Amino acid sequence: MSLLIQGGMAFLGSKFEQKDILIEDGRIAKVGNALKGDEVITAAGLLVLPGLIDPHVHFREPGDTYKEDFATGSRAAIAGGFTTVMDMPNNAIPTTTKARLEEKVKLAKEKAICDVLFHFGGTDSNFDEVKRADPGSLKLYLGQTTGGLVLKNPSSLEKHLRNFPKEKPIVLHACDHSEGEEENLGKTYATIENALSLAKKTNSTIHLAHASTGKEIQLSLRYPRCTVEVAPHHLFLSRDALEKLGPYGKVYPPLRTEQKRIMLWSALDRADCIATDHAPHTIEDKERGAAGFPGLETSLALMLEGVERGLLDRIWVAQRMTQNPARIFNIKGKGRLEKGYAGDVAIVDPKKKWKIEGSMLETKCKWTPFDGMEVRGKVHTVVKGGKILFEKFQFVA
Ligand code: DOR
Ligand code: ZN
Repeated sequence: MSLLIQGGMAFLGSKFEQKDILIEDGRIAKVGNALKGDEVITAAGLLVLPGLIDPHVHFREPGDTYKEDFATGSRAAIAGGFTTVMDMPNNAIPTTTKARLEEKVKLAKEKAICDVLFHFGGTDSNFDEVKRADPGSLKLYLGQTTGGLVLKNPSSLEKHLRNFPKEKPIVLHACDHSEGEEENLGKTYATIENALSLAKKTNSTIHLAHASTGKEIQLSLRYPRCTVEVAPHHLFLSRDALEKLGPYGKVYPPLRTEQKRIMLWSALDRADCIATDHAPHTIEDKERGAAGFPGLETSLALMLEGVERGLLDRIWVAQRMTQNPARIFNIKGKGRLEKGYAGDVAIVDPKKKWKIEGSMLETKCKWTPFDGMEVRGKVHTVVKGGKILFEKFQFVA
């Protein structure tokens, strides 16, 4: 059985063009005109994107499955157009040993409906374990955050940079909030500058997680082997929203001033990819001060809303949610609509208006800091490995 996605505006890497996409045996067999297939999805008037890739999610399993698990997290991913996500290591039981990585891989295989890749966590002592596990990427927390996975010894960063294969990315969490909610940006910038000079010295590949200020994007430009991601919540929310959001507005890095939010937009053009930083916490945990927002089901819509408002270019957005994360994280055979690539496709209605509502979300946490916001752009259909999982704005039974 082949699947044909017919008549949509397909994203071809640097342009959108009306093309049919034929998927056979789970892979893209042809991109062309007037193609024929057994099963047909009509995509006229819709955007056809490679399945989105999110390089930054927290799926909480094992350890905190009351917040999210591979089943609910991956449903949220699919509903948001993401067919591949990369899970962070800061679980209650962190991903810092080979055995724990293997356990996560196994659990995800059993429960997830999207592909889940894993960032391995670096500690002050697990250098040999990193070698043994041989992960695709390493995450280093240079400041305190949820879960307490953090490097305390100042020499550990350089050791990890020396130890880890040069062609694989090391993801850096640079901000620190151990001293409460005080914004301590000077310290964050100094942490990044130090990491950049060590990366240069060791010839490492690094990736800055969740840049929340324009300056962080500027800093990333100082070293050619440094890439940087931005999360939509730092583009669409500032500290001004805290009055309304209360504890639901708590996130690391924190929401910045309105002026810094605008400066982030000014520097955004040089950002390499968009990451949701999907970090779900229950309502009870938020009331108790947990930091983090769910983001998988709102991020594409927010970026497309940015396009509708004339702030962003549609091609720019598509690149940063598909081929760029694939390139940065060496994810082979994904992120492009080309022959031989995975039959993972997100079909999007770019004009569809909808109101974001927490209670409607697939994520276990059922709330969102964007509750009540009207956006334009909605995921219409999602195909994963040639199978239709989501169609006409809802999951296939
Ligand atoms: O707000 C955050 N939540 N920032 C992080 O760095 C971690 C995340 C989480 O795991 O909840
Ligand atoms: Zn995160």
